[in-house]
Amino acid sequence: MAPHLIVIIEDDDGVRSALTKGLERNGYKVRAVDSAADGLKTIRGRSPDLVLLDWRLPDADGLELLERIRRRRPDLPVIMMTGFSNVETAVRAMHLGAYDYVSKPFDLDQMMLVVRKALDARRVRSEVQPAAGRALDPFGFDRVVGESPLMLEAKHVLRRLAESDARTILLQGESGTGKDLAAKVIHYNSRQAERPFMNITCTALPEALLESELFGHEKGAFTDARQQKRGLFELAGGGTIFLDEIGDMPASLQAKLLRFLDEKTLRRVGGTRDIRVDVRIIAATNRVLRALVEQGEFREDLFYRLNVFPVTLPPLRERKEDIPLLADCFIKQYNRELHKDVKGIEKVALNVMQAYHWPGNVRELRNLIERAMLMARGGYLTLADLPMELKKPAAAAGGGGESAAAAGEPAPRRDLGPEGLDIRQVERSLVLQALRQTGWNQSKAAALLHISRDQLRYRIQKYGLKDGAAGPGEWPAP
Ligand SMILES: Nc1ncnc2c1ncn2[C@@H]1O[C@H](COP(=O)(O)OP(=O)(O)OP(=O)(O)O)[C@@H](O)[C@H]1O
Ligand SMILES: [Mg+2]
Repeated sequence: MAPHLIVIIEDDDGVRSALTKGLERNGYKVRAVDSAADGLKTIRGRSPDLVLLDWRLPDADGLELLERIRRRRPDLPVIMMTGFSNVETAVRAMHLGAYDYVSKPFDLDQMMLVVRKALDARRVRSEVQPAAGRALDPFGFDRVVGESPLMLEAKHVLRRLAESDARTILLQGESGTGKDLAAKVIHYNSRQAERPFMNITCTALPEALLESELFGHEKGAFTDARQQKRGLFELAGGGTIFLDEIGDMPASLQAKLLRFLDEKTLRRVGGTRDIRVDVRIIAATNRVLRALVEQGEFREDLFYRLNVFPVTLPPLRERKEDIPLLADCFIKQYNRELHKDVKGIEKVALNVMQAYHWPGNVRELRNLIERAMLMARGGYLTLADLPMELKKPAAAAGGGGESAAAAGEPAPRRDLGPEGLDIRQVERSLVLQALRQTGWNQSKAAALLHISRDQLRYRIQKYGLKDGAAGPGEWPAP
């Protein structure tokens, strides 16, 4: 394989030559230039595999250059080299699609690690590129996995919204249900797909910084504003802005956002001119926005403005039939990434997964598969590969506990206390809970308790358990 070609754009001679030497020693080919103009020329002429870009160049702002590179070559990873502790630049660089950033002064080993990671990520991506020579569709609808009625409905709505002219879309759903994914899928399947997709998390920055991030500022608008800066709304012109965690947007910005939505114009901080910007807004929150309105934490008028096209992504526990499909898709993904050859999941383990309540939704499922696959030797994932919390009875895990209590069953105790406790009572209660939770499916209940079906049947007989029976009053005399 030909060595990777890396372009360094850096005007500091010392840094440039140290980097060049370090990279060449590690077997990379390097082209080093000291200006934005030469950088662009080199990228155009040599189609490199990676760019290391200084944030400050004599002839251009590094971030602007980043933006131009990203627009021309969205698949080319760029690592930004920022000034020491310049968080703002780093944050912006990431928003603009930099693969990563390294703050100066950096040590060479650290840089080599980031370089290797970026090139690896690129390899993984190009491996999944379809053979037909068609450009990789990074976020097709098939990325949203799920065939349950709730998901089919959600996907149908997402598809219609993507193709529509809807200027604002509201995505709601618990954490890990796929709001980020949905936002990208909408963008990349819309007419704006070629234009930028800008993502900003409203909680990530202090209020003043968030405002200038979104709306930009004029030179001298505040102490640090040495230069005029365009905000994300302007930078995303013609594309999509993804406002994540909109429920946490400070009140003053809510007002500005509303004004922008109504008038399609904005004013930079410290500016007097109205700038017209055409951009689609996708807002997302894992909080219930209507409840925030009732509590006076979110503007009602903005809520109605955003709520014109709402989509709710269902929690995983309401569409458990999608679990095998999702698990399968993540196993395939991690087989590629971790160079494994896992075939699937054992039935018992899958049963346990289907009995679990998944507070972290699809993200939790994905992380769990990744963890299990790191441990797995091959073949099928088994019960032993699943983490403990999945195998705990629902009461201890925090779900389904109420229903057991409502049925009059004493909650299992976990501390002995000075007076001790009857272990048989605890066992009976756990067996009963497992049966109820699985709708008296003995295989599933046995799996939940990590015992065989025979062991379960023995205990059902021992405690005289019957479907629909058993309050504490029926406790058999020892
Ligand atoms: N339907 C789905 N099909 C495939 N992958 C999914 C699906 N839903 C979510 N995921 C994956 O699960 C992970 C979490 O999803 P995502 O980040 O979109 O959740 P979120 O709703 O934005 O969560 P949060 O509220 O915490 O930001 C991601 O890796 C995403 O790709
Ligand atoms: Mg998210």
